[in-house]
Amino acid sequence: MNIIITGGAGFIGSHVVRLFVEKYPQYKIFNVDKLTYAGNLANLKDIENKPNYTFVKADICDFDTIYALMQREHIDGIIHLAAESHVDRSIKDPFTFARTNVMGTLSMLQAAKLYWESLPEGYEGKRFYHISTDEVYGALELTHPEGLHSDISAHEVYGDEFFTEDRKYQPHSPYSASKASSDHFVRAFHDTYGMPTIVTNCSNNYGPYQFPEKLIPLFINNIRHRRPLPVYGKGENVRDWLYVVDHARAIDTIFHKGAIAETYNIGGFNEWKNIDIVKVLINTTDRLLGRKEGEDMDLITYVTDRAGHDLRYAIDSRKLKRELGWEPSLQFEEGIEITVRWYLENQAWMDNVTSGDYQRYYDEMYKDR
Ligand code: NAD
Ligand code: TYD
Repeated sequence: MNIIITGGAGFIGSHVVRLFVEKYPQYKIFNVDKLTYAGNLANLKDIENKPNYTFVKADICDFDTIYALMQREHIDGIIHLAAESHVDRSIKDPFTFARTNVMGTLSMLQAAKLYWESLPEGYEGKRFYHISTDEVYGALELTHPEGLHSDISAHEVYGDEFFTEDRKYQPHSPYSASKASSDHFVRAFHDTYGMPTIVTNCSNNYGPYQFPEKLIPLFINNIRHRRPLPVYGKGENVRDWLYVVDHARAIDTIFHKGAIAETYNIGGFNEWKNIDIVKVLINTTDRLLGRKEGEDMDLITYVTDRAGHDLRYAIDSRKLKRELGWEPSLQFEEGIEITVRWYLENQAWMDNVTSGDYQRYYDEMYKDR
């Protein structure tokens, strides 16, 4: 297959590109990325010279470029991850989110439609796979905090609600509203034109190469430098965390085996209150830096809550396990240890993405491509 992966220079996209390039030498993988502040080709240094990998610097909103690429490279599959992804930025600048997440997705869909419909075989053997988030479902109550961090059976005992695939969309932030809108467009292209689409909604990811504006890498870096850790509100909000490589594995499984027009939720039944995660991060980072475990607890600084802050996300991913056999491979404790170690050992990467220089460097390097 010839596959476009959009947003491949970002956090999750880089793990998906790496997995596909290494696992499928017979495929041609085209990483289409605009290289915004969140895109960084250093995330793919280890695979950039592989013969089945090509980087294409392009904006997904640029229909003509995407359409020409599809024609030229005979693209059969699209795995669409490119997006503006940070809730706090969406609160400050919703227009950018509507442009990239809604109009950009529409541009990808329309390019795929026109190209695939022009082929003798039409949509046969083609696939448009859209990566979305659990945040489109809105927020859940937290009725039984005792049931956190555990598997579904504990939640069944306590009777807490989960996001299932048939849950009503109820996005609250400009980010989740833009992702919800893009999900609707993808499903509309299936229902209206018969395009073979799949949508997945995943919980919060963590792991190497995440831009340090998100909770986990930001806090690891701040602990290292003994800077304050800005915990929003009381730190009571709950997120359901999945190791990024497990998300990439799920994407691989679903891209190859998922049923057309289906939705799959992806998550690891791993709910944590923010404040508890922060304590784990402090203990782990202190230990790995040779400090006394917990000595940096006084960096915790409670700050004004995020506007419209969703209380709890929790994914029910039993359909994915039942139908396609996917399960997370890593326990959270293992994943966090690997993640903290990675950020501490890759301080040069961290300094690079926080300096702003890397963006200018790569713009210069790829300006003629
Ligand atoms: P990210 O912000 O780390 O990366 C986004 C990538 O998209 C960057 O490389 C950026 O340069 C690129 N991009 C942005 N606008 C573009 C445009 N107009 N044209 C081309 N490329 C553009 O994001 P991420 O955390 O890796 O998330 C990837 C996808 O997964 C997103 O669609 C997001 O909604 C979804 N998702 C993320 C999480 C999470 O926890 N991070 C969870 C569930 C779903
Ligand atoms: P984030 O990593 O931004 O992911 P999302 O908003 O998509 O869930 O935030 C994770 C949780 O951590 C969320 O409840 C907001 C909270 N948070 C803080 O308390 N302080 C921070 O500085 C950040 C970035 C997030």
